[in-house]
Amino acid sequence: MKGIIDLFYLSASILSADFANLADQIHKAEDAGVDWIHIDVMDGHFVPNITMGPFIVETCRRITSLPLDVHLMIEKPENHIQSFINAGANWVSIHIEGNSNVHRTLQVIQSLGAKAGIVLNPGTPAQAVEAILPFTDLVLVMTVNPGFSGQSFIPQMLGKISTIKNMIEKTNLRAILQVDGGINPQNISVVAQAGANCFVAATAIFKHPQGIAEGVISLRTELQKKMRLSPQIQENG
Ligand code: DX5
Ligand code: ZN
Repeated sequence: MKGIIDLFYLSASILSADFANLADQIHKAEDAGVDWIHIDVMDGHFVPNITMGPFIVETCRRITSLPLDVHLMIEKPENHIQSFINAGANWVSIHIEGNSNVHRTLQVIQSLGAKAGIVLNPGTPAQAVEAILPFTDLVLVMTVNPGFSGQSFIPQMLGKISTIKNMIEKTNLRAILQVDGGINPQNISVVAQAGANCFVAATAIFKHPQGIAEGVISLRTELQKKMRLSPQIQENG
């Protein structure tokens, strides 16, 4: 049976995982109760780092049956959608910045059977997503500058999260509001309070000093406290 805590999704970003033991690390996160596996794809152009491609997505697909949440930080993502979905991506998110026809790319993702997300960098205003919102399955608000794990959460993004949450309530209730960057047990409640319901975390899970399970439990515990404080949820729960 689903509990109130299932209203939130935790997506574990393998960017901070130990790749020498990738299967073990993913299994530990899965056993501790993460909902999705987040895969950060970087090309050294859109962001200054180079990371993973479809080959790693296909590897993750063989390791876990959890949904694979692929975050494309690459130029011309439209050229690579088919490869990532063939490799096993369930969610594919593209940045709004520098992409000339995001509507078309979202349509292609959906037509190939995956869920489509749109991502906003910290410098991109909430209003930039308004026109595309009815066509997306997920909005990802970056709470750090994309490129690296281990950066600090930018608190000024909370207002943007609330603004987009209001837009979602008006135009597309099925869209998930995801946040990515610097999420930890100290800030996850306030981010949830602002309206996010899907939380990406790399460092807080894979670099937790007491291990991966403790990292997941710490985040879940803070979310649970937040839900217990919510009168609306108590009434319905
Ligand atoms: C940053 C990536 C994030 C990153 C998050 O460009 O999109 O997914 O892995 O790492 P933490 O949780 O350490 O900020
Ligand atoms: Zn990411």
